[in-house]
Amino acid sequence: MDKYYIKICDSTNDTAKFFIDSGVKIPFVVISEEQTKGRGQQGRKWISQKGGLYSSFVLEKIDSKKALTVGAVASYRTLVKFLPVKVRFPNDLLVGRKKIAGVLVEQTSGATIIGIGINVNQQEFPEVIKEVATSLFLETGLLYSLQEIADILINEIERLQNLDYERVFQEYYKLVSLRGRCFLHFKDGREVVCEIKDIDKDLNLSTTAGNFNFGEVVWIEWVQ
Ligand code: BTN
Repeated sequence: MDKYYIKICDSTNDTAKFFIDSGVKIPFVVISEEQTKGRGQQGRKWISQKGGLYSSFVLEKIDSKKALTVGAVASYRTLVKFLPVKVRFPNDLLVGRKKIAGVLVEQTSGATIIGIGINVNQQEFPEVIKEVATSLFLETGLLYSLQEIADILINEIERLQNLDYERVFQEYYKLVSLRGRCFLHFKDGREVVCEIKDIDKDLNLSTTAGNFNFGEVVWIEWVQ
């Protein structure tokens, strides 16, 4: 896929949309060193200071489930080369209880954008996310080549996008953490305490409190 490297932008997902509208050939990836309006899931901000890797992969339109699982597996396989990480359903990458990477999938009429933010060389985070965010540097005390990490991530996305969804889901299923009691936080503000029993190919969670779809669950908080 074609690669576009930029120094700074609002959001690589928005730059990707602009490129799509301008007729740039799909597939491609936009990678930025910094974002001024980085976006996270559920309309949240994604704080995007220098040191992180901010990327948006634009693929021919695929289903959101495939896009989410491709993003999660690719991020996992990239990070696990450097330290142990976990996938929290549906697509957060954690070290312990802290978030090290996240995936934001957005659909346009003709393309799918998989936005991936990986915290790499950040040495500190603003107060608001200090307790919940971490980076490769903060975990290992080492600085990393953003280009090397980008290359691994690009290879993984290229490999996974060519697989059919069954195969991607098989890989995802082996990685996603299911064990233990958790709070499910729902889009409508509800919280439910339960244990996850399983996840199916439609990303439905079967839990001790009932069945829920990935579209309803905003995030999972594990109970000690
Ligand atoms: C999340 O909330 O976990 C998703 C975070 C996704 C952040 C990435 S950084 C690159 C791309 N551009 C954005 O504005 N967001 C995504």
